[in-house]
Amino acid sequence: MTQPSDHIDNMLHETRVIAPSAEFTAQARVTREEYDRRYRQSLEQPDEFWSEVAEELHWFAPWTQVLDWQPPHAQWFVGGQTNMAYNALDRHVARGLGDKRAVVWEGEDGEVRTFTYAELLGEVSRAANALTELGVQAGDRVTLYLPLIPEAVIAMLACARIGAVHSVVFGGFSVSALADRINDAQSKLLITADAGYRRGKAVNLKENADQAAALAPGLEKMLVVRRAATPVAWQEDRDVWWNDVVGSQSDRHGAAPLDSEHPLFVLYTSGSTGKPKGVQHTTGGYMVGTYLTTQAVFDLKDDDLYWCTADIGWITGHSYSVYGPLLNGASILLYEGAPNQPDWGRFWQIIEKHRVTILYTAPTAIRSFMGHGDEIPARSDLSSLRLLGSVGEPINPEAWMWYRRVIGGDRCPVVDTWWQTETGAIMLTTLPGAHPSKPGSAGLPMYGVEPAIMTRSGEELGPDEGGLLVIKRPWPSMLRTVYGDDERYRKTYWGEIPGVYFAGDGARRDSDGYYTIMGRVDDVLNVSGHRLGTMEIESALVAHPSVSEAAVVGRPDPIKGECVVAFVLTQDGQQIDPAELRGHVTREIGALARPDAIIVADALPKTRSGKIMRRFLRQIAAGQPIQGDTSTLEDPGVLDKLAATPAV
Ligand code: WT7
Repeated sequence: MTQPSDHIDNMLHETRVIAPSAEFTAQARVTREEYDRRYRQSLEQPDEFWSEVAEELHWFAPWTQVLDWQPPHAQWFVGGQTNMAYNALDRHVARGLGDKRAVVWEGEDGEVRTFTYAELLGEVSRAANALTELGVQAGDRVTLYLPLIPEAVIAMLACARIGAVHSVVFGGFSVSALADRINDAQSKLLITADAGYRRGKAVNLKENADQAAALAPGLEKMLVVRRAATPVAWQEDRDVWWNDVVGSQSDRHGAAPLDSEHPLFVLYTSGSTGKPKGVQHTTGGYMVGTYLTTQAVFDLKDDDLYWCTADIGWITGHSYSVYGPLLNGASILLYEGAPNQPDWGRFWQIIEKHRVTILYTAPTAIRSFMGHGDEIPARSDLSSLRLLGSVGEPINPEAWMWYRRVIGGDRCPVVDTWWQTETGAIMLTTLPGAHPSKPGSAGLPMYGVEPAIMTRSGEELGPDEGGLLVIKRPWPSMLRTVYGDDERYRKTYWGEIPGVYFAGDGARRDSDGYYTIMGRVDDVLNVSGHRLGTMEIESALVAHPSVSEAAVVGRPDPIKGECVVAFVLTQDGQQIDPAELRGHVTREIGALARPDAIIVADALPKTRSGKIMRRFLRQIAAGQPIQGDTSTLEDPGVLDKLAATPAV
């Protein structure tokens, strides 16, 4: 098990309880009584519960069975036909919300573009017609490699509208990471942009896309959005400009009725083995799950302007920047750029300018803001905010309190939402008007979620006992499989502890039923809320000609939560150039995987059978004294030597 880091230790002693104000509770969508009643119903009469929720959405054909559970495979709303884009757009236009703002987008350079629901429907329809003209059919995979611009949302919804399966690859991923994902998904079409803006610079995405295409023989077409007017290389028989092919289409398009279990998207995420997994989500269940959780957790009202700061390259961007809020007919804000462009006040200026009411962001961002002091947010009028959310990694109580006090003016409830790429939607949280918050603790299970804390052998643990977080029954928005590798799905999620979903997190539950997440228990790191497999980084390192062996561990970091520490052995005593090696990892995976510290070693701590004891490496990386039984090591002397080696 991963050693608990310092801030997790702090949480063990955290006792503050902060109740929502009477004012917030009085206007909240969900009260304590309502949560208790519906939560009970969701477990005792799940068919009735989920039918009631699903019936609020549009179905072209009704389902005949709510759940078909053939462990570990679930089908939800069996036989039903629906369409995500129809529910996110047409449904609202049909009920008179055509003129309501759907998307308010702000570019890093300050440009603002606004789309009403009617306008967004028109754009998505055009894009859907264009995809069809390009030969994309229902079931085909389409890879998206885009900055956070309106076309990214339009492209996702256009895929959903025709039943094409999108696979969004974060724009910060490298050429080879992009190529691997295109190849694994067997995408024939890549949608990208000439460039995206990041910290004032145009980052040339097309160049990366061209290089990835050279490594992806199955790729046939590239659809390119003009964002930055940067010069690009052009391959006439392959590349098409978005404006040329989308702009000329009709703005009418009939959404395809799709089977509830039709795949909606694949999203790659890191696991404990080397290769990222294509997490596969389907249409009906994911739609119902994101619809319900967005409305309940964020207390959505008609006049809210809701801002989730996640990029669409991550699951948070899928479920809570795009699908969940649009399914609810909300007005969403999207911001293209970095939080510190031109300075650390950018988020607060955006909130003041657009009168944002709900903000959902990550602990790593909150800690960065906190580090720059209270004066910067104090310069902006944040009085429009009424609710704050946190997601992606454990939030330390100090950052939680700062967020509530400085950003939320001690007035806004803070929800700390635990979930994963695989769960599709929020699983553990407090509901803002219903439950008091405990800083550092995610809270209670969402409707339909039946969690437990277990030992490795599957025994359930009681209150305040730390163990493994599992979910005891399927839920609508859960992943259906790992794309192209069902065996890995069975093993990773339902095989670790037979019969229950294994989340990969350590957690404990207190006597009020609140869950506190203690971090990953597998070889997965969480760096600034981004998930990275240690094996993935190790394979990148050993692909470098000067490296013969590598071991990667996480080290607690005050801003990033965790950072990457790499122990490397050199090939035949070659010199390691740390900058070169960091550049190499950036090229292999992306800048997010760059090691913060590199320790060039003569030997790694291995057992006699050759297994690297990462536990000791974690202690060395954190500068802690070695604790634990070192007698199984082939050569315990290695540890002192490593501890004495300065990092580069
Ligand atoms: C892992 C999932 C959920 C969307 C963003 C990340 C960690 C996530 C919390 C939280 C403590 C959290 C877990 C989880 N995590 N939210 N509120 N408190 N830890 O999605 O990339 O799939 O990562 O992020 O370790 O397993 P992801």
